[in-house]
Amino acid sequence: MAESLGLSPQSSRQERYAELSNRWSALLGDEPNRVANMANIVAVLKEAFGWHWVGFYLVDFEKDELVLGPFQGPLACTRLFHGKGVCAAAWDKMQVQLVPDVHAFEGHVACSSKTASELVLPVVANDEVVAVLDIDSVTPDDFTPADVDGFEALMDLLANRWEVWE
Ligand code: SME
Repeated sequence: MAESLGLSPQSSRQERYAELSNRWSALLGDEPNRVANMANIVAVLKEAFGWHWVGFYLVDFEKDELVLGPFQGPLACTRLFHGKGVCAAAWDKMQVQLVPDVHAFEGHVACSSKTASELVLPVVANDEVVAVLDIDSVTPDDFTPADVDGFEALMDLLANRWEVWE
């Protein structure tokens, strides 16, 4: 599964993060289109880690809602709202949400009944959340702070390039 990215099928999750951290810039190149870049990011993450659902929700500043962006995985909710769910919590609080058990998270929005744990990282550009990266796993308690660290390079790149991308 990880072969087309050239990742060894035996490599650990940490090794994959390390490998990808060095390659995000090259993988995205100088493409200026936001949708194209987000589409390839979620394709790479799905291929490298095989999670149930990986995708972006974008802040719709006009409507003050989150709207579905590029993703890989099953059909998802198209709109998410302030104060309800894990993605909205990352948006409202401007903080990573690491949820070991989605059923214990009050207000969790269950787009898929198979999701057991979830990690949501806000994309912050110019001191405001512009999008969130949402990752859903069928495995309970699948994420740790090491996963958050593993995403550091990608989140930095998104923050640095967001305004440049159209
Ligand atoms: N579970 C998310 C909704 C998005 S789906 O998981 C794709 C939430 O509670 O915000």
